[in-house]
Amino acid sequence: LTILVLNGPNLGHLGERQPEIYGSQGMNCVPDQVNALLGEDAKDVELVFDQKNGEGELIDRLEQAREEGVDGVVFNAGAYTHTSLALGDCLAWVKIPYVEIHISNVWARPEKIRHTSFIALHAEGVIAGFGIESYALGVAALVRKLMAGA
Ligand code: DQA
Repeated sequence: LTILVLNGPNLGHLGERQPEIYGSQGMNCVPDQVNALLGEDAKDVELVFDQKNGEGELIDRLEQAREEGVDGVVFNAGAYTHTSLALGDCLAWVKIPYVEIHISNVWARPEKIRHTSFIALHAEGVIAGFGIESYALGVAALVRKLMAGA
């Protein structure tokens, strides 16, 4: 299975960006966390990492993933989660199974806009609030679901 781990805007400098909210680790710790969670099954999983700051670039990347036949997407759309009807429309038609990811628990944050999502509607599920491990938890959950359905 090929899983695209896709980050949206302002997620290219994890570890440096507001560590009190987003932690001090970067994405480089994700593969080890995935291995720890999936054990033997990890050998059947290829992780592809990408990050785009632009809304259109993210849509282009998701269309590319569809063309490549990517099996699943673990997607932190950052602030576009709360604003982008266009990303929601994209995920509705490309039909790649995906998990919505947030490092922080968006519902525990004071800005009300962070409590809404334009991309949750078609997601297999949502993982938020487990810090950088949210990505690995998302990969593991998605892989288990895909393997069970295969
Ligand atoms: C985020 C939460 C969003 O509200 C915020 O705009 C981000 C990161 C998270 O991972 O906690 O950029 O998606």
